[in-house]
Amino acid sequence: MQRTRMLTPDDGAALAALLTRVSPDTSYARFHGVVRVLTTATLSRLLDLEQGRHEAVIAETDEGIVAVARYVRDTPTSAEAEVAIVVADAWQRAGIGRKLMQELMTAAWQAGIRHFRATMMPESAPVRQFVSSLAPTTRGCIVDGKVVVTIDLPDSYFPATTPVRVGGPEKREG
Ligand SMILES: CC(C)(COP(=O)(O)OP(=O)(O)OC[C@H]1O[C@@H](n2cnc3c(N)ncnc32)[C@H](O)[C@@H]1OP(=O)(O)O)[C@@H](O)C(=O)NCCC(=O)NCCS
Repeated sequence: MQRTRMLTPDDGAALAALLTRVSPDTSYARFHGVVRVLTTATLSRLLDLEQGRHEAVIAETDEGIVAVARYVRDTPTSAEAEVAIVVADAWQRAGIGRKLMQELMTAAWQAGIRHFRATMMPESAPVRQFVSSLAPTTRGCIVDGKVVVTIDLPDSYFPATTPVRVGGPEKREG
C-alpha cells in the first residue's frame, strides 16, 4: 500500500534509490536521456526545496519511494512553474500519477501558481494523454524538438481564495 507526502531534503538516499525501480524507457521520458545514477549535483538540485518555489510530492511504499512529482517556479512571484513527474514502472497505471499531480497542483495553487509547463519527448503519446487528463485546458507547442504543454490549473477544482464581489459595491440601508 502506498502513501503520499511532501519530499524533504532528508530523502536523498530514498530518492536516489527510486532510479533502481525505473526502466530505461521511463528514465528517458522523465530526464530526456537515460539516467541510471543521480550525481551529487543533480541530487542537490532535486532537494533544493522551498515552499512556494520548488515543492515535490512523493508516493512511497515499504520498499521506498515509487513516484515523485515536482514543480519549480519560474521566478519567486511567477504564476507559472515547470512540472515533472516519474512513476516507477511496476506502479504505473494505478492512479498514483494523477493523485500526486492533484496534490502538487493544490500546493502550487496555494502558492499563487496558476499554470504548469510540462516538457516531454515528441514520441511520448501516453504522457500527453496523461497531461490532458489532468485539467480541462491545456495547450502545446514544439520547442527545440520537444513538446511543451501548458496546463491551466483548473479554477473549479480549488476553493476561491478571495471572495469575488459581483455587481459593484454593496448598498447600505439607511
Ligand atoms: C506519465 C506517468 C507519470 C503516468 O503516471 P501513472 O501513475 O501511470 O498514471 P495514472 O495511473 O494516474 O493515469 C492517469 C491517466 O493518465 C492517462 N495515462 C496514464 N498512463 C497512460 C498510458 N500509458 N497510456 C495512455 N494513457 C495513460 C490515462 O488517461 C489515465 O487515466 P485512466 O487510467 O483512468 O485511463 C508515468 O507513466 C510515468 O512516470 N512515465 C514516465 C515519465 C514521464 O513520462 N514523465 C512525464 C515527463 S514530465
